[in-house]
Amino acid sequence: MNEQQLAQTAQALVAPGRGILAADESSSTIAKRFSAIGVESTADSRRDYRELLFRSTQAMQKYISGVILYDETIRQKAVDGTPLVTLIEKAGSLPGIKVDAGAKPLPGFPRETITEGLDGLAGRLKEYYDLGARFAKWRAVIDIADGIPTRGAILTNADALARYAALCQEANIVPIVEPEVLMDGNHSLHRCYEVTETVLRAVFTALYEQRVFLEGIVLKPNMVVPGMKSGHRASPDEVAAATIRLFKNSVPVAVPGIAFLSGGQSDFDATANLDALVRAAPPWPMTFSYGRALQAAPQKAWSGKPANVGAAQAAFNHRAHMNSLAALGQWSESAEKAAA
Ligand code: 13P
Repeated sequence: MNEQQLAQTAQALVAPGRGILAADESSSTIAKRFSAIGVESTADSRRDYRELLFRSTQAMQKYISGVILYDETIRQKAVDGTPLVTLIEKAGSLPGIKVDAGAKPLPGFPRETITEGLDGLAGRLKEYYDLGARFAKWRAVIDIADGIPTRGAILTNADALARYAALCQEANIVPIVEPEVLMDGNHSLHRCYEVTETVLRAVFTALYEQRVFLEGIVLKPNMVVPGMKSGHRASPDEVAAATIRLFKNSVPVAVPGIAFLSGGQSDFDATANLDALVRAAPPWPMTFSYGRALQAAPQKAWSGKPANVGAAQAAFNHRAHMNSLAALGQWSESAEKAAA
């Protein structure tokens, strides 16, 4: 393990005004996104769409520190034969790779899941490093409902995240540690707070026990928000206050940065909440690692038509710019409107 390299990569991922593009949708997830815009999901359509994103010069050069890829994408070439990884590197951004094999039912724990993918992971990481990956992602999923999450599911997922993180660091790949507490559901902000706190404490205990080098990870958490079906909404200042209070109590300051997932929030909310978080002057760099909140607009603008590539790139540049401003605590509704 090269600690210096890991720490530098982690810091680059959360550099001021930059954040991560999560473009690592599995084939079934991207098929769902494409179906919403009337596009058939094929290897070529997935390549065309992702190539359009990675060739969005403004976003990639100025606002996107790293791109999380799916196994298929890290091996794909652009139409002109350039590897997609090379497009990302040439823009000055870091290629990353999703390495988990998805959340599967956890035996004995109805409605709960365990994220799989540890078997053979050391070998796959070596191959991904050779393909250009300098960071990785593993997503644990914790749902909130009556009677869940259970302590058993939380500890099992925390343990898997820590095992993954240790294996990544051994391969000189920075692990993005993502324990996602889902935002769906009808729970209150308070319940999200409690569950997220329990989960983060379990995750950092497991990372400690597995001897993970904290200066060489990036944490990818959910924000503390009321469940989307609760009928309640929290203001950006309320979200920021709760989230930062919780993190101060459970995330070591050694962690070089926090890159939030968007989790189904609207584009606007994901940006406004990040801006409020950064304005509250947290002790860590905070930025975005958004999938949907960066891609919904360009997907809609593209709709699978080559003639729309320019419009889709403009939409992506815009969202990346707005989230970059938010990561600096400099976003405003008027910036949003002026640029739109
Ligand atoms: P969302 O921002 O759409 O939640 O996706 C981020 C991600 O990578 C989830 O694993």
